[in-house]
Amino acid sequence: MGYREIYEGWKADPEGFWMQAAEAIDWERKPSRALDDSRAPFYGWYADGTCNACWNALDRHVEAGHGDRLAIIHDSPITGTRASLTFREARDRVARLAGALAAKGVGKGDRVVIYMPMVPEALIAMLACARLGAIHSVVFGGFAAPELAVRIDDAEPKALIAASCGIEPGRVVAYKPMVDQAIEMSRWKPDFCVILQREQAEATLVEGRDHEWHAFQEGAEPAPCTMVGGMDPLYILYTSGTTGQPKGVVRATGGYLVALEWTMRNIYAIDPGEVFFTASDVGWVVGHSYICYGPLVRGATTIVFEGKPVGTPDAGTFWRVIEEHEVRSFFTAPTAFRAIKREDPQAEFLAKHDISSLRYLFLAGERADPDTIEWAQRHLKVPVIDHWWQTETGWAIAANPVGIELLPVKPGSPTVPMPGYDVQILDEAGNPLPPNTLGAVAIRLPLPPGTLPTLWNADERFRSAYLDTYPGYYATGDAGTIDEDGYLAIMARTDDVINVAGHRLSTGAMEEVLASHPDVAECAVLGIADPLKGQVPMGFLCLNRGSTRDHDEVIRECIALVRERIGPVAAFRNACVVDRLPKTRSGKILRGVMGRIVEGRDWKAPATIDDPAILDEISESVAGLRNKPD
Ligand code: COA
Ligand code: AMP
Repeated sequence: MGYREIYEGWKADPEGFWMQAAEAIDWERKPSRALDDSRAPFYGWYADGTCNACWNALDRHVEAGHGDRLAIIHDSPITGTRASLTFREARDRVARLAGALAAKGVGKGDRVVIYMPMVPEALIAMLACARLGAIHSVVFGGFAAPELAVRIDDAEPKALIAASCGIEPGRVVAYKPMVDQAIEMSRWKPDFCVILQREQAEATLVEGRDHEWHAFQEGAEPAPCTMVGGMDPLYILYTSGTTGQPKGVVRATGGYLVALEWTMRNIYAIDPGEVFFTASDVGWVVGHSYICYGPLVRGATTIVFEGKPVGTPDAGTFWRVIEEHEVRSFFTAPTAFRAIKREDPQAEFLAKHDISSLRYLFLAGERADPDTIEWAQRHLKVPVIDHWWQTETGWAIAANPVGIELLPVKPGSPTVPMPGYDVQILDEAGNPLPPNTLGAVAIRLPLPPGTLPTLWNADERFRSAYLDTYPGYYATGDAGTIDEDGYLAIMARTDDVINVAGHRLSTGAMEEVLASHPDVAECAVLGIADPLKGQVPMGFLCLNRGSTRDHDEVIRECIALVRERIGPVAAFRNACVVDRLPKTRSGKILRGVMGRIVEGRDWKAPATIDDPAILDEISESVAGLRNKPD
């Protein structure tokens, strides 16, 4: 069957489609039905089934006689080390950690925050929580202590699992002091911490609260899998919204396992025993779905890559990994390819490696520009598949399902909606728009299995953020088009979220930090086009009336403040001081026209502007910035 028949088959009988897909995972008790619409517009899936994510990721493959297959490969060019774990070894290590956590009182429904770099122990920790039915919440290592504290307060974890440090090119990032600072700042205090000591920066442990990773597990009884309900949460993953308070995306267990299994076959075309390589981070949704759960649930080998696309040691590092581990499908963000292309435009490093094992390259996380796709296609000589999704959905909304059939690639389009997603382009009033007309991208409810049922402890916020804008639809926050062949194009966000090197960040959160600077009266942060990172943030600061502070000094302080409060991942390096911000007569900041000015594009003062002269002032400030040496 081809894509069209499968998609139409789903549309005609969604219940039958998802009940059949559910056959691919192990259930303790099979669900009697797929969709639970008893609380619409809050939907759930496989409500009366019981299962366990760790069982599906590890134990079932060992039980089926595949215990000696590789489950996890750690390839760390940044530390010069490599290691691997078979499914049996991974299961045993996970069961032991789970046993130790259980002995300290962690059980079903308890939360555990994980703050770790790209080491296999990050996956072991996630799976150990899953084994107990505990809910993990992984926080990306590039976030600073206050961001970690906000997540601790929201998730109220019983335990926190961290590594002593992460390693970035040219510097060791000590994680443990940030953990200590976050716990100090947070209202909620975890009962205990488990710390993986890395030799690059050993952490000081707090007596009575902190336990060293190995000592903690010594003599622990391996824990069995605790079965959970299909709708019980597997994890909470915080993502940026319009304010400084991140949204806790909840992932329900049963639907997620079913959806991931389906995607591993039908989108990524991976069979059990094959090697899948996702170069991202466990702190992001891509890492949850396709470094941890997806490949393992499929019985495939996953690679935990600790390095960067360039500089660890060179722009050939991905090709080496693909050759060495015989990678079949490779998934990363377009920004990684832009970094490689910039460093090695003729792909000379590629010639040094045999990447003939590779069948497909998958890109997501930000818009894949046609240039990057074309470059990758020309040099890798495999189909380059752009696909579009978000933290909220957990898996692709639109993709080219190469496991079913390779549809013609249209550069600039993530191809077509996957079964489960009825995607519509709507105007402001919520009416569907004709083909090739730009509008808000919305998905008709219910969303499919694996997508968020709600936000953690925030049903009302879930409703107002996603469901209220277009009744009957989930608002994705993206704007785009659908052409006459049903191909989507995702063009921009409709909210204050920006995408920096594939990382999703909130300009609103940055504005909150800038506004807290004692000399800043008002501010705005915009996402500005950047050839490497897609977008970078830029701040406009209005200082308090009568302020005599040196502008450069205030800017430096503001940059440091964002790094301290949000983290280096925000990549906030540009700001300028302006007298006033351009606003509409109703007081809305005119971000669009400011962005055009900064990017050096044509601009025109909108009719609604309060005082057009402000735009000339902004233009002058930005020109001054361009002429300034770095
Ligand atoms: N822990 C601590 N700090 C981290 C970190 C982590 N896990 N990840 C990133 N940082 C820091 C970096 O060291 C850098 O700090 P600096 O300001 O001191 O240089 C800052 O956060 C920004 O990092 P990054 O976004 O990685 O930018 P970069 O300039 O170092 O590298 C790329 C640029 C394109 C090579 C890089 O962004 C990249 O590999 N992107 C891949 C995108 C990706 O995987 N996206 C995930 C979604 S699929
Ligand atoms: P995140 O939740 O971090 O995965 O970010 C999701 C957002 O990234 C989406 O809402 C889009 O704005 C953007 N995005 C992700 N993948 C793509 C893609 N393939 N094309 C265009 N935008 C994308």
